[in-house]
Amino acid sequence: MLWPCLFLPYVAVATASIVSRSYQCGNQSYFTADNGIIRSHSGYDVGHDYGKNLDCVWTIEAPEGKFVQLVANAFHLEGSGFSCSYDYLQLFDGDSTNDNSLGKFCGNVFAPISSRQRFLTLNFVTDGSHGFRGFELFYNFTDHVMRTCLTGQFSCNNTNCVPGSYRCDGQDDCGDDSDEKNCQTGSTTHEFCAFGEFRCSNGNCISRQWICDGDNDCPDMSDETNCAVNVSRGCGQTNFTGTTGNISSPNFPLNYTSKLNCTYHVTAPVGTTSISFTFDRRFSIESSGIGTCTYDNVTISGMNGRNINGPFCGTIAPAPFEIHGDAADVRFITDSSAQRQGFMLTWSTEGLP
Ligand SMILES: *[C@@H]1O[C@H](CO)[C@@H](O)[C@H](O)[C@H]1NC(C)=O
Ligand SMILES: *[C@@H]1O[C@H](CO)[C@@H](O)[C@H](O)[C@H]1NC(C)=O
Ligand SMILES: *[C@@H]1O[C@H](CO)[C@@H](O)[C@H](O)[C@H]1NC(C)=O
Ligand SMILES: *[C@@H]1O[C@H](CO)[C@@H](O)[C@H](O)[C@H]1NC(C)=O
Ligand SMILES: *[C@@H]1O[C@H](CO)[C@@H](O)[C@H](O)[C@H]1NC(C)=O
Ligand SMILES: *[C@@H]1O[C@H](CO)[C@@H](O)[C@H](O)[C@H]1NC(C)=O
Ligand SMILES: *[C@@H]1O[C@H](CO)[C@@H](O)[C@H](O)[C@H]1NC(C)=O
Ligand SMILES: *[C@@H]1O[C@H](CO)[C@@H](O)[C@H](O)[C@H]1NC(C)=O
Ligand SMILES: *[C@@H]1O[C@H](CO)[C@@H](O)[C@H](O)[C@H]1NC(C)=O
Repeated sequence: MLWPCLFLPYVAVATASIVSRSYQCGNQSYFTADNGIIRSHSGYDVGHDYGKNLDCVWTIEAPEGKFVQLVANAFHLEGSGFSCSYDYLQLFDGDSTNDNSLGKFCGNVFAPISSRQRFLTLNFVTDGSHGFRGFELFYNFTDHVMRTCLTGQFSCNNTNCVPGSYRCDGQDDCGDDSDEKNCQTGSTTHEFCAFGEFRCSNGNCISRQWICDGDNDCPDMSDETNCAVNVSRGCGQTNFTGTTGNISSPNFPLNYTSKLNCTYHVTAPVGTTSISFTFDRRFSIESSGIGTCTYDNVTISGMNGRNINGPFCGTIAPAPFEIHGDAADVRFITDSSAQRQGFMLTWSTEGLP
């Protein structure tokens, strides 16, 4: 394991101040006021990634007759899909982690959800490897349950939940026959979708894994709106804030894909005078001949397209450079043929004069 070297910054923080689990999880674990914010960790505000081995629990209590609704302002955890085997946020329908699970969330996907009674408990768990940006969730109290069922259950139109296998089995298990509608093959419009699916505005049901992945799967774009992160087709996360971060070509260190047009926005704290860019030595972008990069290229520019560095291509990593100002764009464009490993760079405002 390399983590003792890779995570020296955290060790330094830990020895400089007393870092306890409760400190990392913030100073409040029980919420009763309407309209609140819950952040993944106490360093979220100042741009720190979350730490290793966290196990934070928060409970929200709504008044009698109300439900707790949760939406994400931002959501960036390690992992993806349904496995969520590294870091995850798990929600429980009640006032403890012993209550029914409403699902595990990781990666960049978090769809609005509500409790089915007046308590909602959140459990944020991280593994022993590196942290990501974390999340900021907004909650408030509502009069209506948002239609959600447990993993593997079908969500009936009348808000009942039945086992997913009951769908289209010829029996009315929901009580309103909704589990027996839209069963014929070829039907594309649904009044409701199974848990684990997202209902598009046009009535299509798609896997929740496809929400906010940069592809217009619905295809009415409803799966790509209200996303916590800005992604564009095949580019991954495109917005970066804080004082340092890494940006790499898609799939790095494996080959990038064809026909990309990715712009990664770097936004440093207001007043930052310059941002440094340092490329990893592993660098390989298809070149079109000595000194030209008309096939594939990466270009870094400052605000308003000034201070252009690049286009870069070839197999020799560009030397480190700085961009004046508190924002920069990294644009990576590829054509339809010949893919290579790509690039990885670290941007930072730290250690600059
Ligand atoms: C918790 O932290 C917030 C922001 O740092 C502060 O405003 C608040 O007073 C703290 N609450 C308690 C109970 O310490
Ligand atoms: C709760 O938040 C949702 C989403 O922002 C909003 O639509 C709703 O009106 C809010 N409800 C209350 C009671 O504040
Ligand atoms: C779902 O329920 C709503 C009202 O609760 C009703 O208007 C609608 O027709 C129902 N849809 C189906 C497919 O049963
Ligand atoms: C992404 O960056 C754009 C341009 O800098 C900005 O308008 C937008 O608010 C950012 N989105 C997020 C989620 O940070
Ligand atoms: C994504 O970025 C665009 C501009 O680059 C901005 O208009 C849009 O609001 C952003 N989306 C989100 C969810 O922040
Ligand atoms: C960037 O990558 C380097 C090397 O892989 C790693 O040590 C560092 O923690 C990363 N930084 C961030 C902010 O992800
Ligand atoms: C990349 O996208 C931008 C707009 O987002 C566009 O102006 C530019 O022409 C595109 N470049 C290529 C090579 O497609
Ligand atoms: C960068 O690559 C794209 C995609 O092949 C190409 O359209 C563009 O002209 C190249 N830019 C330069 C400056 O060569
Ligand atoms: C990456 O692309 C190069 C050249 O196009 C090819 O030789 C190599 O096999 C590819 N590697 C992978 C893992 O696909």
